[in-house]
Amino acid sequence: MPLSISPGARDPLTENHDALVVCVTQGALAKHPVVQSLDRALDGALLAHAKQAEFEGKPDQVLDLPSLGRLKARRLLLTGAGPAAEIDAPRLRAAVATGVRAASQSAKSAGLVLPSDDADLRAAGEGARLGAYRFVKYFTGDRKPKTELTKLTVSLPSAKIGAPGKRALALGAELGDAVALARDAINEPPNVIYPESLAALARDIARRHKLKIKVLDKKQILAAGMHLHYAVGQGSAHEPRFIHLTYAPQRKKKKLVFVGKGLTFDSGGLCIKPAPGMGEMKSDMGGAAAVLGLMAAVATLGLDVEVHGIVGAAENMPDGEAYRPADVFPSLDGKTVEIINTDAEGRLVLADALSYASRLKPDLIVDAAPLTGAALVALGKTYSAYYTSDDALSRAFDLAARHAGEGFWRMPFIEELGEQLKSDVADLKHTGDRYGGSITAALFLRQFVGKVPWIHCDIAGPVLSDRARGAVPKGGTGHAVLTFLRFVEDFAS
Ligand code: BES
Ligand code: MN
Ligand code: ZN
Repeated sequence: MPLSISPGARDPLTENHDALVVCVTQGALAKHPVVQSLDRALDGALLAHAKQAEFEGKPDQVLDLPSLGRLKARRLLLTGAGPAAEIDAPRLRAAVATGVRAASQSAKSAGLVLPSDDADLRAAGEGARLGAYRFVKYFTGDRKPKTELTKLTVSLPSAKIGAPGKRALALGAELGDAVALARDAINEPPNVIYPESLAALARDIARRHKLKIKVLDKKQILAAGMHLHYAVGQGSAHEPRFIHLTYAPQRKKKKLVFVGKGLTFDSGGLCIKPAPGMGEMKSDMGGAAAVLGLMAAVATLGLDVEVHGIVGAAENMPDGEAYRPADVFPSLDGKTVEIINTDAEGRLVLADALSYASRLKPDLIVDAAPLTGAALVALGKTYSAYYTSDDALSRAFDLAARHAGEGFWRMPFIEELGEQLKSDVADLKHTGDRYGGSITAALFLRQFVGKVPWIHCDIAGPVLSDRARGAVPKGGTGHAVLTFLRFVEDFAS
């Protein structure tokens, strides 16, 4: 059952819930009116306990206590949002998610109280939905969770949530659904999500959100001239798919194209990966997942921008039919490419998808791909590397990422590294040395975008998380959906 999020009673203490989650600011615990009445109901035990447990309301801090029959709610949770002066959308989203995640371990219904009457209700709705997220469909018997959080009511410390606030909450929850859709697609095993079923998922999103969709199958990919995409998929029993979704509102100010890497599994192909960690390569469609989530979110908001979502889907497998090092293929835009390492498959699929995207003559192309281990080495698990040669775009993108609470760090196109891509037999080699690997991948992709303004995001680090923190769960994160959404919203206004 999905989580329903709605405004709660004026006084949250009067509601019957399994848990009450109170989001508080740092250092102002005793000033929160709801904390005051809770403390009174508990004869001063709440503030005394918080003090003793050193709970101050810092970000990531949670205080979890039983109410021992003194409150209507069985459990009371305080979640910290940091200093009042620093509470912005990402802080609130993360604090709400942390509190709701803790409550959802055992509560079917919960109340949530926000830190201030002017709290951003859309961000709160997003945080609630993101915090309640879990991927449990394959558990049976004892492993099946005994409870599921299905009802959350939201209150402000001392004001009532009116009609606009109610709408903002619901919108936040729906946008959270779009992120959850991306997370689910990543968490699904690769025997369930393969190019054809990823295309079916895209069709489903198109139907629900009234988007146009075009899907090319293996033959059509070849006929269209996408030889690089075709080559990557040729060793798999699961045929590749090329997916093109369009959101075209009546009024549109700009045309944007988002391109996602949709490698539903990356074994490395003939240049096979070592066994440890190979299973993580089910997340190699994380760029595609972000694009699909974004398309759902853009349609939900009904923005005045034309947005295209493009996914190059394939499975990279070793096989008698697999492509090999030393093969040469033409790209969609006619350049010939010498294959060096079959594990560098993502840039090949993206190259054709980027050429296709630039033919749409958009104002901007943005791509997302878990593209290189080198990006992980450079920036770690929580930041994506991004590349653009346009400083104004970069500033706007940084702001969008900050608002979304996602890590993106600009990286340079170091031109001299491009020399590594010179081939003796074709126009281009598709990989360079190990050092600067994320940069050479970006330089390779740049060959295929033409003159269109472009941002390339290497999301290899944040596509999966090894622990839950703030709005991010363990496993598939849906990273980039909220940043891209915020970025698109800026183009609409
Ligand atoms: N999908 C991987 C990149 C990756 C690595 C994503 C770790 C997420 C976590 C990509 O297809 C790949 O294998 N890249 C190679 C390129 C190399 C062969 C030039 C890499 O980074 O090792
Ligand atoms: Mn690879
Ligand atoms: Zn890959």
